[in-house]
Amino acid sequence: MSGRSISGNLRRRRTIHKPILTKDMLSLRPMVDKDLEMVQRIEHLSFSNPWPRSSFQGEIDNHSISEPLVIIYTPEDRIIGYIMVWTFKGEAQISNIAVDPQYRRLGVGEYALRRILHRQRQTGIRRVFLEVRPSNIGAVKLYEKLGFRIIGKRLKYYKTPVEDALIMLKMIPESKSREE
Ligand SMILES: CC(C)(COP(=O)(O)OP(=O)(O)OC[C@H]1O[C@@H](n2cnc3c(N)ncnc32)[C@H](O)[C@@H]1OP(=O)(O)O)[C@@H](O)C(=O)NCCC(=O)NCCS
Repeated sequence: MSGRSISGNLRRRRTIHKPILTKDMLSLRPMVDKDLEMVQRIEHLSFSNPWPRSSFQGEIDNHSISEPLVIIYTPEDRIIGYIMVWTFKGEAQISNIAVDPQYRRLGVGEYALRRILHRQRQTGIRRVFLEVRPSNIGAVKLYEKLGFRIIGKRLKYYKTPVEDALIMLKMIPESKSREE
């Protein structure tokens, strides 16, 4: 296991500003209206073409397809990221994921994604898709680490700056019972 795995082990402090995280210090809960200020702050720190507040509001309101979740650093009850999943006709799409820059490279994104994949398996979802900029090396590495594979491209999909999107897919096998 890598020294940076969060699975039950203490994470090494990398800079004076970063907290030491263990898995039991993290949780996910549904995003609600009062979270949007913090979520927007993280979104603007994370993307060159951030979603407007109305898009997040739409995700909260559209319960039939969308599941927006915030990632909580439980010792401070603080929102340090979010992940959003659309589920439709037996397939899922990770529509957005971001972690507060101060909490990156501590296993937070991996924790959230693993929790989501575990839930998808339990509900019978077998195919999980996402799109990512090829230049977003950290995100691509995260997805590859969790078993996503590149299956195609959408040409000039992103704006600001214009860039193709990689389409990635994770097939979830039926038989495995342990957490992703
Ligand atoms: C992508 C993002 C969510 C990753 O979250 P994170 O909490 O920093 O990632 P983790 O610490 O859980 O990293 C897990 C694995 O992902 C990979 N990874 C994550 N960030 C990386 C980076 N900057 N460089 C290289 N690999 C990286 C590594 O394989 C890492 O495993 P390791 O620690 O054993 O090496 C975060 O960088 C982020 O919010 N970025 C801005 C928003 C964004 O790009 N979202 C994705 C849009 S498709």
